[in-house]
Amino acid sequence: MNTIFITGANRGIGLELTSQLLKEGNKIIAGCRNLKATDNLRKLQREFEKLEIMELAVDDEDSVVSCFKKLSEDNQKIDLLFNNAGIMDWNDLNAVTSDSLEKVYRTNLIGALLVLRASVPCLRKSNQPLVVNLSSRLGSIGLRGNTQLGGAIAYQCSKAALNMLTKQAAIDLSTLGIRVISLSPGWVKTEMGGIEAKYEVSESVRLMLQALKNLQPGDSGIFLGEDGTEISW
Ligand SMILES: NC(=O)c1ccc[n+]([C@@H]2O[C@H](COP(=O)([O-])OP(=O)(O)OC[C@H]3O[C@@H](n4cnc5c(N)ncnc54)[C@H](OP(=O)(O)O)[C@@H]3O)[C@@H](O)[C@H]2O)c1
Repeated sequence: MNTIFITGANRGIGLELTSQLLKEGNKIIAGCRNLKATDNLRKLQREFEKLEIMELAVDDEDSVVSCFKKLSEDNQKIDLLFNNAGIMDWNDLNAVTSDSLEKVYRTNLIGALLVLRASVPCLRKSNQPLVVNLSSRLGSIGLRGNTQLGGAIAYQCSKAALNMLTKQAAIDLSTLGIRVISLSPGWVKTEMGGIEAKYEVSESVRLMLQALKNLQPGDSGIFLGEDGTEISW
């Protein structure tokens, strides 16, 4: 049994990760920014006792620090961290506002960095700690101008920056044995992805969990798609 922390766990991909990983027998700590919007998690909690729900707004440094301070004080181990919480702004270069740019960066990049950093004491208690940053092909610089949809400038830049966080954190944390990867879930039918998306959320999560099982011990600082194939940075 692994202990797995998931941010943004109350809906979408985070909720499905929680559900599938509980069914595999893991302990899940589900971070949610609004404890009043956790009906789906409460339902799961009635079925699985190894689900803990914690308040965590990734864009609020005090919230991040206090969540992981509590976990450290409880001597909690984290084997796997999913930096999953994220927001979208579909506006292009001409339409995006500086306020929105800041908001998207604060959640998708700064939030992920704060969570990753605050979780290190708990990750160090694991024998094989792994951090998975939920990235996107929209954050791939290499894919720009090819067949990939584009135009969501704040989101794309934030995910490209998240990929740099993956790469640098993988280097900085290697001496602690903490591996860090970026993983794209594909285009998924969630509130963010919309109903036209390619994958049901259950299928995307099933593929991603299989891809994680196929990781080799030295794999870190890499950017993978839901099927486990590498994506160009
Ligand atoms: N769906 C796709 O096609 C797709 C494609 C590529 C990458 N991704 C990435 O996959 C991840 C999950 O996406 P999704 O499709 O599941 O999105 P979603 O359905 O919109 O869910 C987003 C989740 O993030 C949470 N969240 C947002 N801001 C937060 C904050 N400041 N603090 C804590 N939680 C916060 C939301 O909580 P609330 O309920 O409180 O808002 C919600 O639980 C994201 O990082 C996204 O960029 C998704």
